[in-house]
Amino acid sequence: MTTLSPKVFIKTLGCAMNERDSEHLFAELREKEGYERTDRAEEADLILINTCSVRERPVAKLFSELGAFNLIRKERAKIGVCGCTASALGEKIFARAPYVDFVLGARNVSKITEAIKNSRSVFTGTGYDESEFAFAEGRFNKYRALINISIGCDKQCAYCIVPATRGKEISIPSKLILNEAKKAVESGAVEVVLLGQNVNSYGSRFSSPHKKIDFPELLEEISQIDGLKRIRFQSPHPLHIDDRFLRVFADNPKICKHIHIPLQSGSTKILRAMRRGYTKEWYLDRALKVREMVKDATISTDIIVGFPGEREEDFEESLDVMRQVKFEQLFSFKFSPRELTAAALMGDRVEDKTASKRLWRIHSLYKKQLNEAMDAQIGKEFDVFLELADDRKTLYGKSHNFYSFRIFNGAKEGEFVKVRAVGIKNGALIGEAVEQTR
Ligand code: 5AD
Ligand code: SF4
Repeated sequence: MTTLSPKVFIKTLGCAMNERDSEHLFAELREKEGYERTDRAEEADLILINTCSVRERPVAKLFSELGAFNLIRKERAKIGVCGCTASALGEKIFARAPYVDFVLGARNVSKITEAIKNSRSVFTGTGYDESEFAFAEGRFNKYRALINISIGCDKQCAYCIVPATRGKEISIPSKLILNEAKKAVESGAVEVVLLGQNVNSYGSRFSSPHKKIDFPELLEEISQIDGLKRIRFQSPHPLHIDDRFLRVFADNPKICKHIHIPLQSGSTKILRAMRRGYTKEWYLDRALKVREMVKDATISTDIIVGFPGEREEDFEESLDVMRQVKFEQLFSFKFSPRELTAAALMGDRVEDKTASKRLWRIHSLYKKQLNEAMDAQIGKEFDVFLELADDRKTLYGKSHNFYSFRIFNGAKEGEFVKVRAVGIKNGALIGEAVEQTR
């Protein structure tokens, strides 16, 4: 039987919050307008690109992708640009890509059904009301539920466009978060990922009076949900990593022992220029405390090289932090000046060649450290949750502390298994199933 439902193709670039926004976009379209999802842009009636604008490169990519979609789209198919880039560029997008039908900012997901009906509509406001948290139900991953716990960001890091695109930080009432987590578990999720620009400042501001709890309390409450096996979160801010939070992180067995602590720079001078609010010593104290309290924890980080004013000796401080913390995962970026940010106007720029060299040095130290960390896992046993890879044949999974595994023997999708790490291939550990665990 042929179906008459309109089809939407969604391309998501960027962070987990964008992924969650895409789930919300689709859920709204399905519930209110009867859309189905397709993974073939050429058969879609609506093409959405939900993208990030934190650095220039994803923005450039957006315009090349838009051009490609314009060529293959069905006659009369609409194209909408959503997410942070939509917020940052607004109607300027029409000038560069005149075939775009509408622009929907990161804080305007709830307006999607309006946007598709109004040609050339632009929604980029950063105000809020509680209807913004109440979306139709919908998830792309049946085991892992992404849940926003706050939206926006109150920090003013000098390089960062997020406060301009996603607006002020508002915490979502804990009752809604708990309900969402319970519902997700009832429909098969084993893991929740709590999302916010600064998860550990949860509870600082609500849009209306609500029961006030902070992040450690929220974690404890969520962990009471029967049937929920794993809790992850991203990302905490180094400044708000206090001992009480670390105690809960260490002691609560449902909380996965992986933490992303964005460093940005190891130099206190640069951290001050970036307005990060902490020093190198504070960062080291917190990261090393994690190491001390949770022996099997893994720590990931973000580092920016070539921030204005970064001298060789400042850069060396970033390497020094890497040597002391030995991150298991590291994302490094060349500073990219963004319109609407304080750093875009700063002088004392670092030459591109120098920044590239620094990025390369970060990469090579990280590669060496990662190899050592992975080698040290061989022979150890891990609890891994198994999922089917995109090829629909191989099984992959993450350990509770976020190591990626490929599994080839005696295990099934959707199960926790105890595996022994027996080798390394393409950046993942190879695991041999020892027994099913839960
Ligand atoms: N230039 C380079 N990197 C940036 N990030 C954010 N803004 C910029 C920028 N203007 C990086 C930070 C952040 C990560 C998501 O992206 O490291 O933690
Ligand atoms: Fe951007 Fe800083 Fe807020 Fe993170 S904390 S989103 S880097 S402004």
